[in-house]
Amino acid sequence: MVARSGPARERRLARARRRAAGRRSPLVPLVPLVLLVLLVLPLAASCGEGGQGGQGGPSALAPAGFGARRVAGLWWLLFGISAGVVVVVTVLLLWALARRRGPDVKVRTGQGNRLVVVLGVALPAAILTLVYAVGLRDLEALSDPKDPGELVVEVTGHQWWWEVRYPDNGAVTANEIHVPVGRTVHLRLRTADVNHSFWVPQLAPKTDLVAGRVNDMWVRAERPGAYRGQCAEYCGTQHARMAFEVVAQRPEEFASWLAGQARPAPPPADARAAAGRKVLESSSCASCHTVRGTSAAGRVGPDLTHLAGRRYLGAGTVPNTPGWLGGWISDSQTVKPGNLMPPQPLGPGELRALIAYLETLH
Ligand code: CUA
Repeated sequence: MVARSGPARERRLARARRRAAGRRSPLVPLVPLVLLVLLVLPLAASCGEGGQGGQGGPSALAPAGFGARRVAGLWWLLFGISAGVVVVVTVLLLWALARRRGPDVKVRTGQGNRLVVVLGVALPAAILTLVYAVGLRDLEALSDPKDPGELVVEVTGHQWWWEVRYPDNGAVTANEIHVPVGRTVHLRLRTADVNHSFWVPQLAPKTDLVAGRVNDMWVRAERPGAYRGQCAEYCGTQHARMAFEVVAQRPEEFASWLAGQARPAPPPADARAAAGRKVLESSSCASCHTVRGTSAAGRVGPDLTHLAGRRYLGAGTVPNTPGWLGGWISDSQTVKPGNLMPPQPLGPGELRALIAYLETLH
């Protein structure tokens, strides 16, 4: 290609200069920032929803226990710092855009070194040190509170449900952990198979259930309510339906609930319930489930001694109503595919009697 002549080159340079000198609005670089804020605002707003007294969504930002309160405090601290950084960067960006000159501005190297050292090194180091210190303090606060009045509860994760034992009085239940308000509860976490993770967002951060060891955590509910919990470590097909509830009750209510759970199942109240109990004892139910006070003593599935008192079936999968119970017994695979309970080939009369008996197990 032949080199261009002088005047043509001048014209081309002038055009480039005009383009560079800003036909574009100086606000154009801010468009991604505005879009980001518009995206983040609804998310941030939805974080605070629900969680009143344990109702609604289980938000970690609606704490009802000391552990969750620490997590929420840390969250707001990090959010405040991030918001501050966004504001400072935006102001600097606008300031730089406002002072922007034409393409002929001379850049002096070495200028702004102190700014880089202060804003780029010293300030982030100070902020990270502060966050680290606060994190360590919170970690310390979550460890053993050495409360001599603590209540011990043993929780064992199974694919895909939670076994709950109160070793001090022999009560056994599943997927529903009752605790007294205001008292420290020491949870001893184990797994019967793969790793799971115990998470009740409103009470405390997650603790993993690791094969071959016992992990400890402490919770204390500040007010009565049913706090939803969820397995937080992928553990197979029905990981999503491995939910549970922590039901915090006033101390006297809790004491009467616990005493009731330790008792064996009540005897059948009528002939139909008696027939149902016979079905339970003579069918394959008894080889996997325990109903204390009967000959059913299986250890594979949940203890059913006080099944009728629970709010959900299948670890939070469906409500505990006679209809769902019948469907679950007949073929729980249609409700929670992959769970270990096989379909039960019972006649309609047997099934009705069995449901009638199970409904008496309060
Ligand atoms: Cu258990 Cu995920």
